[in-house]
Amino acid sequence: MTILLGLEGTAWNLGAALVSEESVLYEAESTYKPKYGGIHPREAAQHHAAELKEVVSRVLTGAKEKEAGFSLTRIDAIAFSQGPGMGPCLRTVATAARALSLSFKIPLIGVNHCVAHIEIGRWRCGVRDPVILYVSGANSQVLAYRSGRYRVLGETLDIGIGNALDKFARYLGLSHPGGPKIEELASKGTTYLYMPYIVKGMDLSFSGLTTAAKEAIDSHPDEKEDVCYSFQETAFAMLTEVTERAMAHCGKDELLLAGGVGANRRLQQMLRTMCHDRGGTFYVPENRYLKDNGAMIAYLGLLMLTSGVTTPIESSRVKPNYRPDEVEVTWRN
Ligand code: ATP
Ligand code: FE2
Repeated sequence: MTILLGLEGTAWNLGAALVSEESVLYEAESTYKPKYGGIHPREAAQHHAAELKEVVSRVLTGAKEKEAGFSLTRIDAIAFSQGPGMGPCLRTVATAARALSLSFKIPLIGVNHCVAHIEIGRWRCGVRDPVILYVSGANSQVLAYRSGRYRVLGETLDIGIGNALDKFARYLGLSHPGGPKIEELASKGTTYLYMPYIVKGMDLSFSGLTTAAKEAIDSHPDEKEDVCYSFQETAFAMLTEVTERAMAHCGKDELLLAGGVGANRRLQQMLRTMCHDRGGTFYVPENRYLKDNGAMIAYLGLLMLTSGVTTPIESSRVKPNYRPDEVEVTWRN
C-alpha cells in the first residue's frame, strides 16, 4: 500500500491528510477566520505556521490509534500545494513540507492545487473524462483533458466567482466566507432585478456584476434577498452557458463540478438541468472534497508518485500563479 501525506494551505484553510490508493485514511484541518474584512495573506500564513504542527500531529495520531507503531517512516512521499495561491501561505506550507521530506528522507511532490481539485472529484465520483467546471474563491475555469494536459477552455477575465460573492457579502456586512450566506438570502428572493450578463466568447467577467449588485443595494436597501437572487441567477447562468458550450465543443457528455463554490445548491441545480437536457451526466463530490482539503493534495501526489514524478528540493519553489495547463499529466493513459 502506498501512503501519501498531503499538505494544503493556499489560502484560508490549512489541511493535512493521509491517503492510500484505496481511501482517504485520516484528515485534519484548521481554518483561519479573518476578524473583519477579507483574507489577509500574511495573517493567514501566520495562522498556518502556528497550526501546522497540531494539524499534522492529529493526522499521525489518528493513524497510530488505528495501527500501533505507525510513524512518518511509513509514508512514501509528502505532497504539498505548490500553487496557485497566496505567496505567504504557500511559502509557509512548502517550508514545512521540505523540512519533513528532508528529515524523514522521503520524496517531496509539489502539486498544482487546481489539478488536485479535479483529480479528487474524478476519484470520488468515479468519472473518467468529464468537462470540468472549477469554481472557487480565486478561480473560475472550464477545463477538459486533451493530449496530456488539462486545457483551460474558458475562464474569468477578472475575479473568481467566489471572490465576487465574498466581496458582495462584505458589502452587505456579512462575514467571510460570504458564498453560503448569499445562497441563503438568494433562496428567499422572488423578483429578478436587471444585472449585467458578461460572457465574452468562452470567457467570463464578474467584477461588473459585483459593482452592479452593490449599486442595486444602494438604491434598494430593503431588497437584499432579491439582489442576492439576481446576482446568483446571473452569475450561474453565465457559468452554465460557457460550460455547456465547452461540452458541445469537446463532444463530451459528462460534467464534473469542482471548487468551494460548487457547494451551492442553485448552481448544482442549473448544471444538472443543463446536463440532463443534453442527455449528459452531472457529477459533484461531497462538500468536503469541493472546498480546499489536504486529501486532494495527497491523492494527486499519489498519482504523480505512481507515475514516477517527484520534486527535487531545488525545484520546489512555490508558484503563486501556477496554471493547471502548465502541468504535464503523467498519470492518465
Ligand atoms: P482556490 O485556491 O481554488 O481559489 P479557495 O481558497 O477559494 O480555493 P475553496 O474552498 O475552493 O477555496 O472555495 C472557497 C470559496 O467558496 C469562497 O469564496 C466561498 O464563499 C465559496 N463558497 C463556499 N460555499 C459556498 C456556497 N454554498 N455558495 C457559494 N459559494 C460558496
Ligand atoms: Fe481551492
